Amino acid sequence: MASPTFGNRYLEPGSRSAELYARARAVMPGGNTRTTVFAPPYPAYAAKAQGATLTDVDGQTRLDFLNNYTALIHGHAHPRIVESVTRQLTSGTAVSFPTESEVRLAELLTDRVDSLERIRFTNSGTEAVMMAVQAARAFTGRRKVARFEGCYHGTYDFGDVELPFNDVDAVERVIAEHAAELAAVIVDPLPHRPGFLDPQEGFLNTLREVTRAHDVLLISDEVISFRLDFHGAQHRFGYAADLTTLGKIIGGGFPVGAFGGRADVMSVFDPTSTTTTPKRVSHGGTFNANPVTMVAGYASMAMMTPEQYDRLASLGQRVRTGLADLIEARGVSWQVSGQESLFKLHAHPRPLVDYRSTLPTPAEQAAIEQFYMVMFGEGIILAPDLAGCLSTPMTDQDVDKLIAAADNAFSALDHRKH
Ligand SMILES: Cc1ncc(COP(=O)(O)O)c(C=O)c1O
Repeated sequence: MASPTFGNRYLEPGSRSAELYARARAVMPGGNTRTTVFAPPYPAYAAKAQGATLTDVDGQTRLDFLNNYTALIHGHAHPRIVESVTRQLTSGTAVSFPTESEVRLAELLTDRVDSLERIRFTNSGTEAVMMAVQAARAFTGRRKVARFEGCYHGTYDFGDVELPFNDVDAVERVIAEHAAELAAVIVDPLPHRPGFLDPQEGFLNTLREVTRAHDVLLISDEVISFRLDFHGAQHRFGYAADLTTLGKIIGGGFPVGAFGGRADVMSVFDPTSTTTTPKRVSHGGTFNANPVTMVAGYASMAMMTPEQYDRLASLGQRVRTGLADLIEARGVSWQVSGQESLFKLHAHPRPLVDYRSTLPTPAEQAAIEQFYMVMFGEGIILAPDLAGCLSTPMTDQDVDKLIAAADNAFSALDHRKH
C-alpha cells in the first residue's frame, strides 16, 4: 500500500527554493508576504500548477490537496476558466465602468442563495467581511460585533464580544447581555480554523432565533463553507442569515470576495437612495468586480452543478473514510473531521466541539508538523495544520495516493516513538 517516497528536494542545501527564500528574506519580513504560505524551515517555491498538481522550482510535482486554501475548486488552470480569462484579457482587465460580467455573476449567486437579495463584490474575503460589518453597523446604528472564539474571518481586526461555538446557553446569555450595543454576530457555520467543527443539531437555528429576537444581524461567513452545497451553507444547515460573505471559489482562482443579503440592509450602499437613515456607506475599490475575476468566477461557478457537488462529496467521503480506517487499523489516537469536499486530521481523539477542544498539546503539535512534512515528501500537499480539500480534476486514484501517503506518515510517527 505504501507509495514510493520521493523526498523534499527543496530542503536540500543549494536548492532553487533555498536560493529564492534567501533573496526573499532580504526584502520581506522573514521572506514572507502571506502568513499562511510559510511552513518551517522555509517554503517550497512554486513553478507551475496544472489540474490537481503543483510543481515546485526544484522540479517535484505533488498532488495539491490545499488548492490555494480551498479557493481552487477546479484545481489549477482549468481550460474553461483559462479560455474565459484569456478572452477577457484583450478586452480590458479593469475598467472604470460596470460590466455585464458582474451582473452575470451577481445573478448566478443571488439565484443560488435564497437569502442573497442583493450582492456586492470585493477583492478578498477579508474585505467582504469588513464591508458586511460596516453594513450592519450603519443599518443598526450599533458598533459592536460578536464572533466565535478561534474562528477566522480574514485579516480585518474586529470583534468586541467572543462566543464559544456550539454553546447554546452562552449564545443566548451573551447576546442578550450585549444586545443594545451589538450590530451583528458573525459565524462560519463549519468553522475551518479550528478544524471544520460540525455545528451541533439546532445550534445555528438557535443562533438565528436569538439574533432575530434582539434585532442583531446575523452574518454567515461562507468564504470557505460555500463549498458545502450548490445553495450554500445556509441551505445545508437550514437557516437564513441577514448578510452572507463569500470569496475563494466564486473567483475561479482570481482575487475575490462578495457580500450580500437583505435588500433593506444592502440599501445602505445604494447610490440612488435619497434617504439618510439608515446611514449611507460608501464602498469604492479600484478592482471591485474587475471583469477578469468576474468571468473566471462565472465560469467556475457555472461548472459547479449539483452533480459536481455530489461528486466532490463522495470523493470527500472516500478521503475521510480512508483516513478513519487507517487510524483504526493502526490504533492511533487521531480523528478526521470535515464535510463534503473539506477534511482535516486531528492528532487527538477528544470530541471536537469548540475552538478550545480542538487545540493540540505540544506533543500533538509536533506530531502534526512531522506528519505534514512526511506527506509533503510523499508528494501530497496539505495545510500545515493538516486540513485539505478536493478539486474537480481529482480522481479516486488521487485519493488513494493520499491514503497511501498517510499510511507512510503514520509509520514515520511510529518510528519516532520507538
Ligand atoms: C471564513 C473565512 N472568512 C474570511 C476569509 C478571508 O478571505 P481572504 O483570504 O480572501 O481575505 C477566510 C480566508 O481563509 C475565511 O476562511
